[in-house]
Amino acid sequence: MAAIVMLACAWARCSPQAESGSAPKLAPNQPNGSSPLASNMVAMDGQLQATLEAVMADPEHSWEGRSLMSHELLGLEPTDASMVNAHFEEHAPLYSLAIKQFNSSPSAQTYNAVVQACTDCHLGTCPGPLERIAKRRSDAH
Ligand code: HEC
Repeated sequence: MAAIVMLACAWARCSPQAESGSAPKLAPNQPNGSSPLASNMVAMDGQLQATLEAVMADPEHSWEGRSLMSHELLGLEPTDASMVNAHFEEHAPLYSLAIKQFNSSPSAQTYNAVVQACTDCHLGTCPGPLERIAKRRSDAH
């Protein structure tokens, strides 16, 4: 199962090579633009980075009053259909739940739970961005 996922991701935009910026030599059906799902992921990553930067810039490192948008994950076209597997469908609601919990009680702990939800889904869909996601943890700074 893991081998199949790795194989599927090896030629997808979420492969580790894509992370380093080197042009991956991939299957001919690799689209040039970002898929709707990948675009949402970039926005999700951006809001974590922005939130963390705002907290770090605050002299008190306060989480009070911060909130995160809940981006839609289901029903968006992925780069490749194999990315939206059973693992993905199982983890999408857990991610939404983590966002809800952060919004109702923003803290480093609930923020890191969101980062963990990103990580948990990626482990079983596309491991490429895992390293980048790890940098979003509030204790990674
Ligand atoms: C439910 C599963 C799931 C969750 C939750 C999830 N991801 Fe993703 N992520 C994916 C899949 C699948 C892709 C590949 C999308 C594609 O290429 O169409 C992806 C792609 C990405 C990419 C690469 C985008 C690109 O330019 O190709 C980044 C970065 C990323 N995710 C970061 C995050 C971050 C940060 C979070 C949490 C805020 C997160 N992901 C939550 C499944 C998930």
